[in-house]
Amino acid sequence: MSIHVASVTAPVNIATLKYWGKRDKQLNLPTNSSISVTLSQDDLRALTSVAASPTFTADRLWLNGKEEATVSNERTQACLSELRKLRQELEGKDTKLPKLSQWNLHIVSENNFPTAAGLASSAAGFAALVAAIAKLYKLEQSMSDLSRIARQGSGSACRSLFGGFVAWEMGEKQDGSDSQAVQVSTLDQWPNMKAAILVVSQAKKDTSSTTGMQLTVKTSDLFKERVAHVVPKRFIEMKGAINAKDFEKFAELTMKDSNSFHATCLDSFPPIFYMNDTSKKIIKLCHLINEFYKETIVAYTFDAGPNAVLYYLEENEGKLFAFVYHLFNKVEGWEKKYSQDQLNQFSSL
Ligand code: PMV
Repeated sequence: MSIHVASVTAPVNIATLKYWGKRDKQLNLPTNSSISVTLSQDDLRALTSVAASPTFTADRLWLNGKEEATVSNERTQACLSELRKLRQELEGKDTKLPKLSQWNLHIVSENNFPTAAGLASSAAGFAALVAAIAKLYKLEQSMSDLSRIARQGSGSACRSLFGGFVAWEMGEKQDGSDSQAVQVSTLDQWPNMKAAILVVSQAKKDTSSTTGMQLTVKTSDLFKERVAHVVPKRFIEMKGAINAKDFEKFAELTMKDSNSFHATCLDSFPPIFYMNDTSKKIIKLCHLINEFYKETIVAYTFDAGPNAVLYYLEENEGKLFAFVYHLFNKVEGWEKKYSQDQLNQFSSL
């Protein structure tokens, strides 16, 4: 029996300039460009293995050990058929290659974090799916080319194909051929930049990002202002802050953009709430920390869920987590990491 197998991991990416709104739902074309940070492979990631064999009778997909019907959904099929087309071209050029494009696939994917809880699981999942099949098929396309395919699975997935700081350029063309991810900077260029995730809830979000986006585009006046005037300027400024390693500017833009995105959710009708009271407490805490030190040491951002992602510079880790612990030490599961002496300095808060 002939069987071909490939495995890859793809990390989660967390947007610092949010993608929210589609101008083409079929092709997943966004209404604005966005920027994200791809976390390290050792942190949150999807691990995907694919196998192709002439004996497989159907495409099948297992996610976290459970077989899913998603393999037959439009999004997954769009990715599979684009990848098969590219493999077919290779098989046309070299007739000795096995005809993998004609065989069914078995795909096994596993996340090491909660799925669909606003931690960009679909981004890592579709990036890993596309990268694993591209590896299996020995495709020669660039990462930006593959990002146009991953984008059709889940918009934000296009950014997870690159490490470091990544921009998704919205593009202008109707066929989506210029809507792709490009790397802004590697993490090595800003090695002391760190991210921490505060898992507020592991529950699945009640409004999917696709449903939420559609509602916002249709009903929010604030959204029109955001895409026309706010994001284009921020896109340029944020790339500049990353390249200049200007944490203060980067942090300000990141926090403002998270707030702007959630404001358009609230401005949708009926409104969408992704953050909860704990999320709001985290926002207040971050501002308090920055005021306390008279310096910006932390930035928060929230995707389509209540969990917070904090960005900070490594040298400020102790300063930041002493505060975080101070606020959340009564929450079950939160480990005490700092000495009483360190914590005493915050006792007045
Ligand atoms: O790629 P989707 O459809 O899961 O949407 C992602 C939307 C946000 O996470 C809220 C923002 C972003 O840019 O990742």
